[in-house]
Amino acid sequence: MIKVAVVGTNGLAQYIANSIATQTSHQFIILSRRPSPGLTARGWQVLQVDYSNPADLKFKLAGVDTVISTVSGNAQLALIDAAAAAHVRRFVPSEFGGPPSLRPQNDLLDNGRRAAILRLHQHEPSGMRFTVFTCGVLYERFAPGGMAASQIGLRSNIGQEGDYLMDFRRRRAQVPYLNSAGQPATICMTSAADVARFVVAALDLPSWPREFRLRGERLSVRDVVAIAEEIQGRPFEISGHTRSSLQDALTYARAVGDHARETRVHHLIATAEGRYDFVNTNLNQLVGVRPESFRDWLKIVPTKGGKVISCVLYNMRPVAGWGELPRRSKIGIFMCQLAYEALTKWGCQNGSPTADRANADLYLPICITNEALSKIGNWIKARYP
Ligand SMILES: NC(=O)c1ccc[n+]([C@@H]2O[C@H](COP(=O)([O-])OP(=O)(O)OC[C@H]3O[C@@H](n4cnc5c(N)ncnc54)[C@H](OP(=O)(O)O)[C@@H]3O)[C@@H](O)[C@H]2O)c1
Repeated sequence: MIKVAVVGTNGLAQYIANSIATQTSHQFIILSRRPSPGLTARGWQVLQVDYSNPADLKFKLAGVDTVISTVSGNAQLALIDAAAAAHVRRFVPSEFGGPPSLRPQNDLLDNGRRAAILRLHQHEPSGMRFTVFTCGVLYERFAPGGMAASQIGLRSNIGQEGDYLMDFRRRRAQVPYLNSAGQPATICMTSAADVARFVVAALDLPSWPREFRLRGERLSVRDVVAIAEEIQGRPFEISGHTRSSLQDALTYARAVGDHARETRVHHLIATAEGRYDFVNTNLNQLVGVRPESFRDWLKIVPTKGGKVISCVLYNMRPVAGWGELPRRSKIGIFMCQLAYEALTKWGCQNGSPTADRANADLYLPICITNEALSKIGNWIKARYP
């Protein structure tokens, strides 16, 4: 049995913690900047950390064998330094995307990843090894409510439904058909829950290489959309992209100073350049995880089956609360979108003393500020006139 630190409380971190709790006998802690009563209520140990306090971070990491980071930027650099100082044996940086070797210099989508890898290299002589988990694109990018509905990618500019490649429910797609070699653009993809299962299954492997590659599927982007069309039973409105049309879109986004748009175009360019693609895996064959296919995953997206969320909106007292909602039901998607607005635009905070649902796999306890309370009505009216 080892002690693992899962760092961050976004959807991926929660999936990883849940997998450790349900599939292993390993001990784990969660490190977060804030108290997280909803997670604590599940019996999980959440330690509050201050990334600007190296001594505090080192103290919280005492006895930890493996750190699994989902945080980025300076916070992750501080975490890496503290982990090395605390004699952590293995560090998993916040990657979970395309192969790092395919990232160009000065990548707009880098988000501090390159600096983290460099820092990890620097610490290796002191004994801390690191391994990147490469999983391609998360299926959640195509979920109703987008990745944000799973509390992933909230700050990424592609967190919302339809921000990347296709909008499943509105049946629209933007497809970069060919890669730079003139071949069909291809991506590897995995669901966040399966990424977590792979990472956790790897904990028991005796040796870790520099990079574990895993995936649920490898598909051409045209096939990704074709599967969605087949499931919807209707064709999508497709805008095909060439290299030059993507370049034009980039120039336009820059000209109008729309950074979010620029990021979204960069994701399509990265897709066309094959940066989420890899031919071989080296983890699928080592562990007993049978990942869900994209088709199977997408099929249940609009149904009422699937995972449940626990959602509580509270101001001074609870405004509204649902113990367990099917996440992919209309009300589940609605709550996820509302939570996204509250967290990203209305200055609300995560965290509630009331969320406590043992069966929920994702918690959306949102503290609604007075200012946000006044916005909810208008937000609902605008969406559901
Ligand atoms: N392959 C894909 O398609 C894909 C897509 C999206 C994300 N990902 C990967 O999934 C992981 C999670 O991504 P994410 O976009 O959800 O991460 P994120 O927005 O950066 O959040 C990760 C965690 O960082 C902490 N955090 C947020 N803001 C912070 C700040 N200003 N200072 C310090 N800590 C902060 C939060 O933890 P606390 O609040 O608990 O402190 C949060 O749970 C990353 O490794 C990312 O690369 C992959």
